[in-house]
Amino acid sequence: MNWKSYKKYFKGKKILITGNSGFVGSYLSLTLSLLGSKILGYSLRKKDNRYLSNFSDYKRKIKTITADIRNIETYQNTIIKFKPDILIHLASQPLVSESYIKTKTNYETNVMGTVKLFEIAKKIKSLKNIMIFTSDKVYKNLDKKSLNENSPLGGKDPYSASKSAQDLISNSYKLSFFKKNKNIFLVRAGNIIGGGDWEKTRLIPDLFLSNLKKKNIYLRNPNATRPWQHILDVIEGILKLFLVKGKKISNTSHIYNIGPKSNKDLKVKHFIQKFIESVPYIKIKYKFKNIKFSEKKFLRLSSKLIMKDIKWKSKLNIDDSIKLTSEWYQHFFKNKNQIINFTSQQIEFFFKKL
Ligand SMILES: NC(=O)c1ccc[n+]([C@@H]2O[C@H](COP(=O)([O-])OP(=O)(O)OC[C@H]3O[C@@H](n4cnc5c(N)ncnc54)[C@H](O)[C@@H]3O)[C@@H](O)[C@H]2O)c1
Repeated sequence: MNWKSYKKYFKGKKILITGNSGFVGSYLSLTLSLLGSKILGYSLRKKDNRYLSNFSDYKRKIKTITADIRNIETYQNTIIKFKPDILIHLASQPLVSESYIKTKTNYETNVMGTVKLFEIAKKIKSLKNIMIFTSDKVYKNLDKKSLNENSPLGGKDPYSASKSAQDLISNSYKLSFFKKNKNIFLVRAGNIIGGGDWEKTRLIPDLFLSNLKKKNIYLRNPNATRPWQHILDVIEGILKLFLVKGKKISNTSHIYNIGPKSNKDLKVKHFIQKFIESVPYIKIKYKFKNIKFSEKKFLRLSSKLIMKDIKWKSKLNIDDSIKLTSEWYQHFFKNKNQIINFTSQQIEFFFKKL
C-alpha cells in the first residue's frame, strides 16, 4: 500500500483520537494530518514541554480538547457534533510502575474511561470504525511460547489487568451493541520505540536523557526480552487495518497483534548495547538496578495473523528502528524548533521512500 492509497482513504475523514498528546498519539495525529484527515483530539496535557503536542506547530494543526477521560461525558456534545467517522482510543495510564502506585486511578482511567467513551460512541451514527489500542501485556504470560490472538488473556499487574479488561470490554461492546453498525478493532502492540517519547521510566527516553546528563543508564530487567518495534511500522499497521477492513461492518471484532518482523529474542541489555554501539553521540554505559515490582521476563508476540489478513509487515528491522529513533533525538537536541517539520519528514520518508 502506498501513500497515495492512504491519502485517498483518509483525506477528509473525521477522526477522534484520545491520548493524542502522548508519544503514539502525536505521531499518529501528525501522520493523519499529513494525509488530510480532520482530527479532534481528547487528552490530558503532557507536563513535559518536550512532547510534540506541546509545540505550537502541532497545536496549530491538531485541535485538542484538553481534559480527563474520566470526565468525558462533560464534552459529549462537542464530540457528537464533530461527527467522527473513526475513533482511535489511546488515552490510558500506560505504565506498569505507576499502576502499582496509583492503582485506583489506573483502573478508573483505563477501564471506566473506556466504558464512558463507548457510551458516547453509541450516540454517534456517523462513527463506523473504532480502534482500541490495548497491549501485548493483555495476555497471561506463557513463558517461552509465542503469543497469538487466541492466547488466554490475564494481565497480572494492575496496568496489564486494566488493559486485559479494556480488551474484554471492547469486545463485549461489539457483540452487545455494535454488531451491525460499527467495527471494533483491538490492537495489541508490543513495545514501541521512536522519537517523541519522553517517559522517563521507559528505556529509550531514559537512555537519551541519561546521555544528555552524562549519567550511566540503570537497567531494571536486563535479561527480559521484548518485542521492540518502531512507531512508524505500528502506524502503518493502524492505517492499513482501517483501509482493508474498515469499509464493511464485520459481525465480530477485528483482533490483531502488532509486533516486530523477526522473532529474534532481544534482551533489554543487548538492545541497549546495540543502541550504544551504533549511535556515536551516546557516550554512557549501562548498569543494573533492582526493582520492587514485577514485570514479565519474556514477551514474544506473533504477528502472523495481521501479516496474513491484510499483508502488513514491519518495514524496519532493529537496526533501521535504532537509526530513525536516534536521528530523531539527535535532531531534537540540536534544533527543537524544527522538530515538527523533522517528524513530518521522517513520516513521509517512511511512507514514500521505504
Ligand atoms: N508505548 C508503547 O510501547 C505501547 C505499547 C503498547 C500499547 N501502548 C498503549 O498505547 C497508548 C498510548 O501510549 P503512549 O506510549 O503514547 O503513552 P503516553 O503516556 O505518551 O500517552 C498517553 C496518552 O494518554 C493520555 N491520558 C492519560 N491519562 C489520561 C486521562 N486520565 N484522561 C485523558 N487522557 C489521558 C495522555 O494525556 C497521553 O495523551 C496507551 O493506551 C498504551 O497503553 C503503548
